[in-house]
Amino acid sequence: MLETIEWMTDSRGDFVRMIDQRLLPAQQVFVDCRTYVEVADAIKTMVIRGAPAIGVAAAMGVALGVQHNADFETVCQTLAATRPTAVNLFWAIDRMRKLHALLTTAEHATAARLINQEHATGARLVNEAQQIRLDDINICKAIGRHGAALVPDGKTVLTHCNAGALATAGYGTALGVIRAAIESGKNIDVFADETRPFLQGARLTAWELQQDGIPTTVITDNMAGHFLQSGRIGCVVVGADRIASNGDVANKIGTYSVAVLAKENGVPFYVAAPVSTFDLTLHSGDQIPIEQRPREEVTHVFGVPIAPENIGVQNPAFDVTPARYISAIICENGVARAPFKQSLAVLALKASLAKV
Ligand code: MRU
Repeated sequence: MLETIEWMTDSRGDFVRMIDQRLLPAQQVFVDCRTYVEVADAIKTMVIRGAPAIGVAAAMGVALGVQHNADFETVCQTLAATRPTAVNLFWAIDRMRKLHALLTTAEHATAARLINQEHATGARLVNEAQQIRLDDINICKAIGRHGAALVPDGKTVLTHCNAGALATAGYGTALGVIRAAIESGKNIDVFADETRPFLQGARLTAWELQQDGIPTTVITDNMAGHFLQSGRIGCVVVGADRIASNGDVANKIGTYSVAVLAKENGVPFYVAAPVSTFDLTLHSGDQIPIEQRPREEVTHVFGVPIAPENIGVQNPAFDVTPARYISAIICENGVARAPFKQSLAVLALKASLAKV
C-alpha cells in the first residue's frame, strides 16, 4: 500500500509528499509540497482528502510555515480556509497552535537561546506533525479492533465514499473496521458505493481494497437501496467528517440516504471515526457547515460534459445523518450508542484522560 502522506527531506530541504488522489486509480503520481501555501492548495484541490488525512496535512503545512518563518497566524488561517466541514482540520491546526504558543513563551524561548537551539520551535513542530500522523495510524487500528466485533460474519459490508488508508494516515476508519474484521478471521466482502460526483468509492475505496486482496464490488449510488433490501448486506460502515454532540454525523453526500435505507431494511448502520472528529461544541448536525464544491464536478466527468451548458447545479459535498439512523459510533476508545450525548462525552473524556 502506498503512503497517503509523508514528511520527507532531500537536498533542497523538508517537504510533504502526498499521493495525488485526483488521479487514482489510473495513475499513481506523487505531489511534493515545499511550502504551506502548496499544502493548502493540495487540500483545497483534493490532492489529499478525507477528514483525518487533511488534519495531518494541515499540521505538516503549519510545520513548513514555521520552518520558513512565515507569519504564524497567516499560516494557520490559510490552512483553515481550505475546507470547512471536516473538523479534524481545525483540530490539527489547534494542536499545532497550542504547542507553538507554549514554545514561544518568553521562558521557553530564552531557554532555547541559552542552549543554542534557535531552531527548536520549528523542529518541535515538525515532530508534532509527524506524531499526529503516527497517532492517526494507531487510532485507526484501535477503531478497527473495536468495530470488528460488530461486523456480521459471512455477509457483505456496504460502505460509502472512502474512509480508508487514503483518507487517513493509514489503515482507515470504516475500512479499518473491515480490515480488522478480516484479520480477525471473518469471511466478508465489500460493496463500495461509487460516490458521485468525486467517485471516492469507485476510484479510491475499490482501489485500496483490491490492493489488499479484499473482495470488493462497486455499485452506483442508486443501487444501495436495492442491495440493502436484498438481505445480503450485514451492516453499513462509513466514516465521518464531523460528529455533533447529539450524535448527528456529517459525512460524504449520499450517506444520509444510505442510513435511511439501512434503517428501513433493518440493517445496522455504523459510523467509524476518531475522537478528533467529534465536535462536542455543536448541539446538533444542523450547525455543521456544509462545503459547496464547484459545479464542474457535477456537470463533467473527467473533463467530458455530461449535462447541458449553463444548467443549474447544486454540489453540496456532505450531508448530515440524524443520530436516530445510527446504530453505533465506533472510535478509538470504544463504541458509543444512543443516547449519544452521554456516550460520546464519555469517550471524549477517556481520550483527554489518556493524554495526561
Ligand atoms: O470530500 P472528501 O473526499 O474529503 O470526503 C471524505 C469523507 O466524507 C469521508 O467519509 C470522511 O472524511 C471520513 S475519512 C476517514
